Amino acid sequence: MRFPSPAHHRTVAEFRAHLKALDPDFDCVDAVPAAPAAALSRPLQLDGWRIGNRFACHPMEGWDGTADGQPSEHTLRRWRRFGASGAKLIWGGEAFAVSHEGRANPHQLFWNPAGGSAGALANLRAAVCDSHRETGGAVDDLLVGLQLTHSGRLACPDGSPAPRIAVRRPLLERRHPAGATVPPLSDAELEGIGAQFVTTAMAARDAGFDFVDIKCCHGYLLHELIGAQARPGPYGGDFAGRTRLLRRIVAEIRSAAPGLGIGVRVSIADTVPFVRDPASGVGRPMTPTDPCEALGFGIAPADSPDPTALDPTEGIAFLRLLEQLGVRLVNVTLGSPYSNPHLTRPAAYPPSDGYLPPIDPLLAVLAHLRAVRACKAACPGLTLVGSGYTYLQEFLPHLAEAEVAAGHVDFVGLGRMLLSYPELPRDVLAGLPLRRKLLCRTFSDCTTAPRNGMRSGCFPLDPYYRETPEAQRVKALRVKALRPRRG
Ligand SMILES: Cc1cc2nc3c(=O)[nH]c(=O)nc-3n(C[C@H](O)[C@H](O)[C@H](O)COP(=O)(O)O)c2cc1C
Repeated sequence: MRFPSPAHHRTVAEFRAHLKALDPDFDCVDAVPAAPAAALSRPLQLDGWRIGNRFACHPMEGWDGTADGQPSEHTLRRWRRFGASGAKLIWGGEAFAVSHEGRANPHQLFWNPAGGSAGALANLRAAVCDSHRETGGAVDDLLVGLQLTHSGRLACPDGSPAPRIAVRRPLLERRHPAGATVPPLSDAELEGIGAQFVTTAMAARDAGFDFVDIKCCHGYLLHELIGAQARPGPYGGDFAGRTRLLRRIVAEIRSAAPGLGIGVRVSIADTVPFVRDPASGVGRPMTPTDPCEALGFGIAPADSPDPTALDPTEGIAFLRLLEQLGVRLVNVTLGSPYSNPHLTRPAAYPPSDGYLPPIDPLLAVLAHLRAVRACKAACPGLTLVGSGYTYLQEFLPHLAEAEVAAGHVDFVGLGRMLLSYPELPRDVLAGLPLRRKLLCRTFSDCTTAPRNGMRSGCFPLDPYYRETPEAQRVKALRVKALRPRRG
C-alpha cells in the first residue's frame, strides 16, 4: 500500500512518530491502564442515565433482514455480539427504516407492524441486554438506542433504486444518476415521513429502547434535507427552513413518547463526491461546473481556497440548535460512504465501488478526531460520540484513551472493529493484550459484500462469514478493486 498502515509500526513510539508527522496536536498513551484507572472505563452521567464506560458501539447494518423487514438469525447474532462487546453505549444497533419505501436495500429492517415489528424490536433489544449480562456486564448502566432512518436518495426497497430526494444535487447526481430522475418530495410528503419517524420512535419506546437516533448523516434523507439550500418553501433555504422538519420530529417525539431519549447522528462536515481516477485508481474530488452544484450540509463553498477542506462551522450551528432542543446525545461522523468513503470509513483497501485512498487513511481518522474535538470545544455540554477509530488497529486503545482523558470526546464509537473483534472493549478494560488476529485490517469486505448484493459481515476474520460461499467472491472483488481500471 502507498501509506504505512498502523500495523506496520512495531512500537507505540513508531506509531506516535507517524501520528505527529501528520499532526503534532495528537498524541497517544504508551499503555492503557486497566479499569478503573483508564479514562475509557469512567462512567458518564447524562440526565437520568449512568453509562458505565466510554466505549460506544456504532450502528451497523448487515443487509440480512427478512423480506418483511424483520431480523434474521444473522441480525440477532450481530446484536448479541454488540451486547457482548462490553461497550456501555449501543448507538442504534443498525439503521432501522421508518417505512418500507425508506429502506436502502431489500434486507433492511423497517417498521412493519403487520409483519411483527413490535416483537422484533423487543427481541433485538433483548439480544443486546441478554448477551451483555451473560458476559458479565450489568445492564443498569447500559444505554441502548435504535437508529431511525429514511434512506431518501439512497432508497432501494425492492432491489432497484427508488430515490426519494429532498433537493436536486447536480454534482452528486453525476456520480449517482438515479436521483436525477425523480422530483423532490413535496412538503406534505416530508411531513408524512416526519410522522413515520414519530410512530417508529413510539414503537422503540414500547420495546424498551432508552433512546432513538434521528439519523442525519451519510447522505440519507434528513442529512440531505439539512443541506437543502436550493429547496424552496418551508423545509429548505435558510438554516431555519432546512432544520424545520427535524425540529418538528423532535417536538412530536417528546409529546408522543415522553421519557424516551433522543440522539442525533450527524455528518458534521462533508465534502464533494470523489471518483476513481481511471489511470491510477486513486480517488479524486469531482469538480463542480457551477458553485451551486456542490451545495450540501457542511460542504465548503466551491470557490473557497480548498473546496475539499472540512469546515465544521455549519455543523456547530447545528449542534447549538440541538442543545436548544434539549438533544444532548450526538454521534459525530463525516461525509457519506457512497460519495466519499475514504472519509467516512478510513481504510487501507477500498470497497469495490470505491477508489484507492487519496490521502493517508490515518489523516482521515484525524479528520474525525479533529471534528469531534471542535464540536466538544464549541458545545461542552453535549455528550459526544466520535467515529472513525477502526483504522487505528493496534493503536486504537492508545489514541482513544488519550482523547477521552483530555476531554476531547466523551465516547469512542467503534464500527468495523466490533464486526471482527467484538470483545475489544472488554479486553482493553480488563487490561488484557489485544488479540491481534482479530483486529480489523480494513479490507472493506463488509462494504463490498452488500454493494454486490450479498449480506455484510467480517469475511476475512469471522469464521461465521469466512466459511460461506460468498467469502471467495468478496475476496475476488477486493483484489479487483485494487487494480487500476481504464474507462
Ligand atoms: C457494514 C457497515 C454497516 C454500517 N451501517 C451503518 C448504519 O446502519 N448506520 C450508520 O449510521 N452507520 C453505519 N455504518 C458506519 C459505521 O457506523 C461507522 O461510522 C464507520 O464504520 C466508521 O467507524 P469505524 O472506523 O469504527 O468502522 C456502517 C459501516 C459498515 C462498515
